[in-house]
Amino acid sequence: MDIQALVRSMTLEEKAGLCSGDDFWHTKAVERLGVPRSMVSDGPHGLRKQDEKVDHLGVNDSIKAVCFPAACATAASFDRALVTSLGEALGDECQHEGVSVVLGPAVNIKRSPLCGRNFEYFSEDPYLAGEMACAHIHGVQSRNVGTSIKHFAANNQEHRRMSSSSDADERTLREIYFPAFEAAVKREQPWTVMCSYNRINGVYASENKWLLTDVLRNEWGFKGYVMSDWGAVADRVKGVQAGLDLEMPASGGINDRRIVEAVKNGQLDEKLVDQCCERILNIVYRFLENARPDTPWDKEAQHALAADIAADCIVLLKNEDALLPLGKQDEIAFIGEFAASPRFQGGGSSHINCFKITGALDAAKAAGLSVRYAQGYSVKDDAATDEMIAEAVAAARACKAAVVFAGLPDSYESEGYDRTNMKMPACQERLIEAVAAANPNTVVVLHNGSPVEMPWIGKAKAVLESYLGGQAVGLAQVRVLFGDVNPSGHLAESFPLKLQDNPSYLYFGGEKNVTEYREGVFVGYRYYDKKEMDVLFPFGHGLSYTTFEYSNLRLNVEKASMAPGDKVEAKVTVTNTGKRFGKAVVQVYVGARACDPIRPVRELKAFEKVALQPGESKEVSFTLDQRAFAMWNEQIHDWYVPAGQYVIEAGDSSRNLPLRAEITLADPRPLPRHFDMNSIFMDLMADEKARAVIRPFLEESRRMFAGEEEQEQSEAAKEAVSDEMGDAMMNYMPMRSLASFGSGESVVRKLEELLHKINEE
Ligand code: BGC
Repeated sequence: MDIQALVRSMTLEEKAGLCSGDDFWHTKAVERLGVPRSMVSDGPHGLRKQDEKVDHLGVNDSIKAVCFPAACATAASFDRALVTSLGEALGDECQHEGVSVVLGPAVNIKRSPLCGRNFEYFSEDPYLAGEMACAHIHGVQSRNVGTSIKHFAANNQEHRRMSSSSDADERTLREIYFPAFEAAVKREQPWTVMCSYNRINGVYASENKWLLTDVLRNEWGFKGYVMSDWGAVADRVKGVQAGLDLEMPASGGINDRRIVEAVKNGQLDEKLVDQCCERILNIVYRFLENARPDTPWDKEAQHALAADIAADCIVLLKNEDALLPLGKQDEIAFIGEFAASPRFQGGGSSHINCFKITGALDAAKAAGLSVRYAQGYSVKDDAATDEMIAEAVAAARACKAAVVFAGLPDSYESEGYDRTNMKMPACQERLIEAVAAANPNTVVVLHNGSPVEMPWIGKAKAVLESYLGGQAVGLAQVRVLFGDVNPSGHLAESFPLKLQDNPSYLYFGGEKNVTEYREGVFVGYRYYDKKEMDVLFPFGHGLSYTTFEYSNLRLNVEKASMAPGDKVEAKVTVTNTGKRFGKAVVQVYVGARACDPIRPVRELKAFEKVALQPGESKEVSFTLDQRAFAMWNEQIHDWYVPAGQYVIEAGDSSRNLPLRAEITLADPRPLPRHFDMNSIFMDLMADEKARAVIRPFLEESRRMFAGEEEQEQSEAAKEAVSDEMGDAMMNYMPMRSLASFGSGESVVRKLEELLHKINEE
């Protein structure tokens, strides 16, 4: 299809019309020219295709589909291939259903545990979020179905989500809030990008030219179309100028008319409208030309896949006395309503209408296990009666071990609003305490989209975090509880001891329509590690039923130049030293040793999930490129590796890194430099050229000074200021100060001469 010719044959009105949706889920047709409508649908962890009553808040039903684990869970797998398999399944469903683009993945950073939509997002870490996004997109798009990576950008709270401005400095955006989008765009070319509702430093994402054109297209090379989040358009004409191709869902024709008027009165260049149409039609035809409606959709097979994925996402947070796995021959108490009806997905636009749900109770019974159930609490009433607690305690007493299925009910976290605290329902906390008092072998299995405080942690011997594990979560839980699957998930976020510890705590939510990201790059473990704070569970943490040993971290060089394109190779050996098959997550962190500039202690820069038989060893290789060491330099508006020593650590969590190596690096590119009379000596002396120019002058002045002083300075004065102290004070003095201490005009002239020499290119 010659898309450019097609656009040339369209009228201005037809082109303007194509720039917004036909209805909630379709782009417009141009019947005169035979251009069909094209359907997009929500995801990202299942297909939410609506046939009849439409909405974007999860209110009305969609077709029966398969709900896979949400991103909060899949990120914990640290398994790219697993996430790709989810994407492939989703792509097949879309082909079967004629859906051209599935709206996701959602990759916003978890700035605070409070964000209502954290369950849909991957991580507090931009590298991990980017890797997971790439894996997801790769899977979906391998089926010739598009993705829409969202919500671009800095959409980290639900509070005032359609009006709030996320105010962050350039470095913070580049180092924390952009990289997941950047990696996905550069490596996987998502067919579409969805811009967010919020403003960024005052400008709506939907009309932010810097974001949608300068960064996304010109820098990263994005080739698809940008669509708005549903209702995110404030000024459509500004949007077209900024690079927003498609407004969704629709504006009832109002904005189409505005585009026409703006072109006619010369305010808007028609070429920009043509460009939007070309980009949209490219994708419409890309799908059409590769449509495979005969693709089978075997829902039962996908239910089984959802269980396999969920099992590899579950994180074993704690396992005292190796209580887990439980014995299959023992009678076990399953306590809590979530055992019978699990919470396995979040609320809002990603809500899937499941064709089937398997909770742990059903899964255990089907597996022939001996379980005794007690409801424990009522989700609907968010309460536990004394009778419920008594029944739970009796069950716990009667059994070998008790498993409490707990977590957050739907209303506690959802799209559209944020949580106000990190607490679990009080009734569930009470239940856990009572059960643990009745049976010391108590396990807690959690269902939640974001961290919770655990005041009861000392009382439960084992804790499994199953997040929102999709419709087959019960199967996965039972396999892990009874040892058919060895847990291998690791936390994609830190669990602080309490909400107040979180770095965004003081500013989260902001004031009126402004949220300042004052913690800057110190998000999640970047903050807890810098402050050496205790956390409940650190980023990257996850136990196993076997043990792993990490050894032999080797770098291919000790010293290297680090310009864009340069690389360092690291190798790590991991051995399964236990008696069971298991999967280790080898994590590699990089940190700059110097504290100038101010940087995190360590940042995740590589990882690999490795399957190992008992006794087996594998050597894993990692490539650390320039970006692994670089920080965003606001002077040159580019990535730059400050010269110095870098520490590379490897292990199985951000707080368990037994291996360590150092490397000296320097970026060969000179940074722009300029000194003036206010420049201080410390900075001048740190610059090679300035030092060469200024040192002879300083020495001469010092000699002159010392000559006079020898006679004048009393012993007491000499003792008061030692030479070292004098030097230290000198460090912070500006050039101009020499003139004020010295002899006027001639010194000023001399200093100006020196500055001129120093600043010469
Ligand atoms: C959400 C998007 C979603 C869209 C369509 C919006 O409210 O923010 O994530 O894709 O609705 O349902």
